[in-house]
Amino acid sequence: MISFDRTTRTFHLQGKSYSYVMRVNGSGYLEHLYFGARVGEDDLSYLNAPCFLSFSPLPPDAEDPAFSLDHTPQEYGCFGQGDFRAPAVLLRREDGFAASRFRYRSHTVGGQKWESDLPHARGGETLTVVLEDALSPAEIRLFYTVYDDSDVLVRSAEIVNRGSAPIKAERAYSFSLDLPAGEYEALRLHGRHLAERIPERTDLGHGALKICSMRGASSHQMNPFLALLARGATETDGECYAFELLYSGSFTLEAEQSQTDTVRVQGGIDDTGFCWTLGAGEKFVTPQAAIAYSGGGLGALSRSLHDFLRNYVLPAGEVFARRPIVINQWEATYFDFDREKLIALIEEAAPLGIDTFVLDDGWFGKRDSDTSGLGDWTVNTHKLEGGLAPVIAACKAHGMKFGIWFEPEMVSEDSDLYRAHPDWAIGKSDVPRCTSRNQFVLDFTRPEVTESVFGAMERILSENDISYVKWDMNRHITEFFSAALPADRMGEFAHRYILGVYALAARLQRRFPDVFFEGCSGGGGRFDAGMLAFFPQIWTSDDTDAAERAKIEWATSYAYPMSAMSCHVSACPNHQTGRTTPFATRGLLASLGPTGYELDLSTLSAEEKAGVKEQIAAYREIEELLLRGDLYRLADPFGKDVFAEMVVSKDKTRAYAVGMRMRAVPADFNRRIRLQGLDENRAYHVRELGLTLHGSTLMRAGLLLPRLGEYDGWSWHIEAVPLPS
Ligand code: DGJ
Repeated sequence: MISFDRTTRTFHLQGKSYSYVMRVNGSGYLEHLYFGARVGEDDLSYLNAPCFLSFSPLPPDAEDPAFSLDHTPQEYGCFGQGDFRAPAVLLRREDGFAASRFRYRSHTVGGQKWESDLPHARGGETLTVVLEDALSPAEIRLFYTVYDDSDVLVRSAEIVNRGSAPIKAERAYSFSLDLPAGEYEALRLHGRHLAERIPERTDLGHGALKICSMRGASSHQMNPFLALLARGATETDGECYAFELLYSGSFTLEAEQSQTDTVRVQGGIDDTGFCWTLGAGEKFVTPQAAIAYSGGGLGALSRSLHDFLRNYVLPAGEVFARRPIVINQWEATYFDFDREKLIALIEEAAPLGIDTFVLDDGWFGKRDSDTSGLGDWTVNTHKLEGGLAPVIAACKAHGMKFGIWFEPEMVSEDSDLYRAHPDWAIGKSDVPRCTSRNQFVLDFTRPEVTESVFGAMERILSENDISYVKWDMNRHITEFFSAALPADRMGEFAHRYILGVYALAARLQRRFPDVFFEGCSGGGGRFDAGMLAFFPQIWTSDDTDAAERAKIEWATSYAYPMSAMSCHVSACPNHQTGRTTPFATRGLLASLGPTGYELDLSTLSAEEKAGVKEQIAAYREIEELLLRGDLYRLADPFGKDVFAEMVVSKDKTRAYAVGMRMRAVPADFNRRIRLQGLDENRAYHVRELGLTLHGSTLMRAGLLLPRLGEYDGWSWHIEAVPLPS
């Protein structure tokens, strides 16, 4: 709900349980007043009482001599008029002057018309506040979208040049917000390839904490997610805020504690090398940011983000309702396969209940290793005699669907595409390019490049019966340069690149509405809310070791739903860590997301094959819970010896818990684990334990942790039953 009090010029925005309040002050500046648990629709202007601080400049139009932008909580901080905190926007005029003083001009309430290739959240009610610059012809529109059923608010901004001379945006963040003085901790998700999203929680302290990617992709190294927590907040208690970008390119999220202990949190497109020229009448649209509030700890914060992403961001089409259970050929064969090997794998998979065969890297061009072939999207008939048809026919004969891998954004130096169009690779022809995995990145800022990739993919997808596409991306951008962009526009390159990626993904999905698309970037290198708008699930990590996956799935869930985390059972010793974990545990960890298999099934024992059948049946039984239920994190695998999570249906009649012993403990003893999310007044039956207990008992007294060996896992199926009389 959005309301505006004309007398006090105060905006009250209300989501499911939060209030977000701001006002236009006497001098016309948009001040932030409050963001937190629901409050009355009162005049909150007293919260920003005039407060004189030495060395805080007075803007020329200030009504009150104690007013200064230096310490006034704002909604979109500017540069050059006395606000010395980092600005949300930096606009440079033709004469080099870069100061801005944005003040309120008007506002509207309604739906937001989205006219950009950027991903965006659907629905909601949007407040648009128009600010105009007293010092240039620039106008800024701030968008705030609220949902009655969600504790997530969506923000973005649009900058318009109302003048005739060009204006250069050297920074254009999606949002900015000044939280009140307090003691905050910051939670971020850093990592690396094979170890994505390691949670790190630190005190905020004074000065700026900045997390970013300058890799042209959101990256394995830092996820576009930042949470600020009241010091000491836990999974179940305390105030928390999350900031998550619907963006997959280079980004920044920063939190700066100021001289008055307030915290400016803001972010959007990373501004390293960024500069966007706005010609007369032109506008620049920023990515959206999802901003969540929880008064009930991190668990509730995550659940709000999960619901929001599932309801308003992930693709909603019918094709995405049920997830395929795949056998992916990658770890089964890597590049070493031929038609017979693939058909043998299909024949092994079908009787086990696997429904989709995915042909991964190596089926095209001259692709026998990662040194060649990318960009040549024609079937390698030396490896696959007769093309894809016999493999697809084998799938059909066994009642399975067929999926295929592409890496659309890439080109190998040793490829026909590169030989024909060397200038299509990002970089400068007279400067040797960096390689990474022996490949270059295609210049997706150029329409002729994306047109050609679209044509090649369209040919494969329309000539063959393909129901699934895995879109991979295995290197980052180094030379941010396009041969096709004018020199003075090169600062637009990185953002234009990712717009090209989004446009191609959208176009392919429009053209092939029945194809299921999964995202990937060397595992979870582009696991972000932007990509999730196109790919309802993303390959979570190339690390399939169950013990590592427990951590990755735990941490990924801070920001993203289980339904988005693609998980496979793979071989042991694990190819990434060399660790051996029980087959059953691998199945349990892979059941905490859309599941699949990625190993040579012919090497499995009869018992393991029977295990696959059971795992698939068990997955289908809980699929609805996984895709739509509420996740509760019970035992943190980082640094502890147990991992446990549970998912509860929205109506609280069903739940499923999974746990794993991360480390063996000597002389193990009775330890309790409290369940969460159940209805305390209902009775529940825990199938594996043969126990029927009240929800209150399960959540307060808890259950005993099974005493298990290292890497052993367990699951509990929990169902509401009539209360004992
Ligand atoms: C990286 C992906 O994460 C893997 O699953 C696999 O598709 C390889 N690329 C193929 O090159």
